[in-house]
Amino acid sequence: MSHTMRTNDGWEEAKNLVKERADLVEIVREHVDLKRSGFRYLGSCPFHQEKTPSFTVHPDQQFYHCFGCKASGDVFSFMMEYHQMDFREALKHLAQRYQVELPEKKRSAAEIEQERRRQQMFGLNSKATDFYHDYLLNHQDAAGARAYLAGRGIPLQTQKGYLLGYAPAVERAGWNFLGSRLSEDERSLAIEIGLLVSKEKNRNYDRFRDRILFPIYDSRGRVCGFGGRIVGEGEPKYLNSPESPIYNKSRMLFGLYQQRESIRRRRRAVLVEGNFDLLALVAKGVDLAVAPLGTALTREQLRLLKPLVDDVVLLFDGDEAGLKAAERSVPLFLAEQMSGRVALLPEGHDPDTYINEFGAAGLTKALDAAGPLPEFVLQQFIDRHGLTLDGKFRIIEELRPLVGAAASPVQRDTMVRHFGAVLGIDTDRLAAELVPGNEARPGPPVEAQHPPKTSRQSGLDGALRSIVGFMVKNPNHFERLLDYGIDAVLAGTAGEMICLQLKSLVREKKATTLDPEELFSELPPGEERALVASILTEVSLDDDAQDNGPDTMLEDVLQWLNRQNLKLRSEELMRRIREAEEEQNGTLLKELLQEKMKVDGDLKNG
Ligand code: UTP
Ligand code: MN
Repeated sequence: MSHTMRTNDGWEEAKNLVKERADLVEIVREHVDLKRSGFRYLGSCPFHQEKTPSFTVHPDQQFYHCFGCKASGDVFSFMMEYHQMDFREALKHLAQRYQVELPEKKRSAAEIEQERRRQQMFGLNSKATDFYHDYLLNHQDAAGARAYLAGRGIPLQTQKGYLLGYAPAVERAGWNFLGSRLSEDERSLAIEIGLLVSKEKNRNYDRFRDRILFPIYDSRGRVCGFGGRIVGEGEPKYLNSPESPIYNKSRMLFGLYQQRESIRRRRRAVLVEGNFDLLALVAKGVDLAVAPLGTALTREQLRLLKPLVDDVVLLFDGDEAGLKAAERSVPLFLAEQMSGRVALLPEGHDPDTYINEFGAAGLTKALDAAGPLPEFVLQQFIDRHGLTLDGKFRIIEELRPLVGAAASPVQRDTMVRHFGAVLGIDTDRLAAELVPGNEARPGPPVEAQHPPKTSRQSGLDGALRSIVGFMVKNPNHFERLLDYGIDAVLAGTAGEMICLQLKSLVREKKATTLDPEELFSELPPGEERALVASILTEVSLDDDAQDNGPDTMLEDVLQWLNRQNLKLRSEELMRRIREAEEEQNGTLLKELLQEKMKVDGDLKNG
């Protein structure tokens, strides 16, 4: 396996040195139990779930191969795949471990300046953390905040462990309590990371006032931002740091830094929704929880957990919102090929109230009893729609996106078989309904009365087809296409699986060295494969266009994707607007309408 690096000044040499010194067996052993078996080692594959070991490591040739999922590669690809790193990160990691010196990277003045500012931002957040923490523990004006935390069962030890803070109220400390303690340089940084809010004419004020603060750490223990809860009742309940150069909510999990080791040791994480849920668990000695920061769970957040855990237990309220949240997370788990389970708490309970009533032992019981996520969601659908003929049709519609999110054909088959068994529908027939490319299969329809098909195309029309063509022929641009949301645009079409397959190939190989033929040979027989074959054999106008300049073509494709995604977004907003109308949620409705106007405006102008 060759990983090429663009800059050759010393990197190639470092790479070879690392390769010489690193021991793949030693590295794999940290994550997989290996037993010697003849000239190689054997263990359970860390890249897919299996009962009998089929993962081999060959010490002489320094490569691994799994007979189950066909994962294979060298010490670099192992690090990349297992820890979700890119090549450069893997090299850095191994270089440090095996004492190989890396060439100094030449950075532009702007990059150096940007990096310097980022460091200062972390420094400032750390200063603010200490400052507010000290205030919480020691200042007389924080007595109310301390009483509130005590009343909620958060002991001093936990407050200290999480460096919780308190930002004083305006009545006691004015609008500029933090601001007045910062230098001018610090103030401009503080605005950028949202500790201060800037008003017109250089007048700033503190964002956090009369709030309990939760510092949010990144994986290296640097404070990126804060969550701020009001003391007691009031609106808004939380005020949080905005996104900034050092804070991206969708890529962080509250509590992960503090609990990483215990999560890794137990190979299990518990996902809760609220900061207070997390602290309640910590206070009672359950140190496995993480919480997304008030937004729906993302794939990036799951990826943070992936190398550490064998499964993630979703611990949500037993209300409608909790059910929905669990449902929405299914495609993410499937796409990441991670195993998720759901522990639903009785109506009226959240993890916080539950552990306070039933203790750590009670909670552990609930965690152990948690059932697998896809089954749980299917049960939800059954409860919702019933198992009448009509109910089954509706369930099939709900299953469509779940099956579509499966990361591999094998995963799809497993799901279809499982769902078919539960629903009492013949597997082949269900597959014909749910798996793109299978619908051409001859035979009677699933049931006599066929429901109208929703939003799903089986073939590919002109524009989609040329987009897929471009994607297949230009793997080097694949990452760009992903950035522009090609996966969302292709969802539910024959292009979807091609896109998924490309994703896994690109992750394994490096887009620049990927040959489109490899894609063809990886696809199982079926519509997708036929499509790729015809794309690869045709000589089309597109090729001429590419000769004129692949970049023009790329730009066109990106623009088109952008428009499609705006359209999807606009449709999605329309759906949510209808829901908000039904629920008579005026505030939400206003927000959604505003957003839709913006999206529609972009569509018009784009
Ligand atoms: P919760 O309302 O469940 O918060 O919202 P909680 O932390 O459990 O608070 P208590 O128990 O009511 O005191 C879940 C998470 O959603 C985010 C916060 O991160 C919160 O922890 N959130 C909630 C916001 O960002 N803004 C809000 O206004 C509310
Ligand atoms: Mn709560």
